[in-house]
Amino acid sequence: MAKLDGTKVVVIGGASGVGFAVAAASRESGAQVVVGSSQKARIEAAAARIGGGARGLTVDVRDETSVAAFFAEIGAFDHLVFTAGDWGRMFSPTRELDVEASKALLEVRFWGAVRVAKCAVGQIAKEGSITLTGGMLAHRPQPGAPLVTASAHTTEGLAMGLARDLAPVRVNAVCLGLISSEAVQAMGESMIRQFTSGLPLPRAGTVEEAAEAYLYLMRAAYVTGQVVRVDGGGSLV
Ligand SMILES: NC(=O)c1ccc[n+]([C@@H]2O[C@H](COP(=O)([O-])OP(=O)(O)OC[C@H]3O[C@@H](n4cnc5c(N)ncnc54)[C@H](OP(=O)(O)O)[C@@H]3O)[C@@H](O)[C@H]2O)c1
Repeated sequence: MAKLDGTKVVVIGGASGVGFAVAAASRESGAQVVVGSSQKARIEAAAARIGGGARGLTVDVRDETSVAAFFAEIGAFDHLVFTAGDWGRMFSPTRELDVEASKALLEVRFWGAVRVAKCAVGQIAKEGSITLTGGMLAHRPQPGAPLVTASAHTTEGLAMGLARDLAPVRVNAVCLGLISSEAVQAMGESMIRQFTSGLPLPRAGTVEEAAEAYLYLMRAAYVTGQVVRVDGGGSLV
């Protein structure tokens, strides 16, 4: 299997949670790492914690000029991982939807990924990869949350479309179940238990367990347009 030794890996969303774990694991696998996120202090602290010469650069994926400047600063690279996400209020029953306000909820996770792919494509290696991040609610719709499901689907659709359009660069997505990042831990133990107790693996995943899927997709040189689920078996129940 291809190694990450000597490759350059860029993780947008690497200040915390799953993105940070992907960056740290890439570094341990021998990659040179660049992490990006919107808050300077947070991303610089993350780069320092990763160590090994990791760079932390600010980028706001809601702004194409900011994304273009980020990639201009980085130069050529091999693999791009996108875990940026905000936690805007997407849980709203259809009857009560504020449609205009809802459009903004796709700015980071969907349109951010589109801007990043557009600005990265001239600099990513032909043997390189892009890995996006979606969520299990794409496949487990809940009452009162149609936009959460729709939004999660846009990620998987984008990965498939980009895989055709950007080939031979490979593009895939990781579909996450409940993963105990700092943001998820803030939900509290009882809510986490409520979401996970009926799973074949009845607990939240760790960020390190999630990171394994991203490392696999970076290395898997014959895999493109696919979605890897890291969900404790949630898609079976
Ligand atoms: N954890 C889960 O259970 C789970 C489940 C399903 C899907 N997901 C999705 O997976 C992704 C990662 O989840 P996580 O739990 O690791 O979340 P997280 O810790 O909140 O990570 C999100 C990252 O995105 C960055 N970010 C936010 N807005 C940004 C912007 N405008 N431009 C650039 N970076 C921005 C944040 O850093 P700054 O604040 O510095 O910008 C942060 O580092 C998210 O998209 C989340 O929705 C997570």
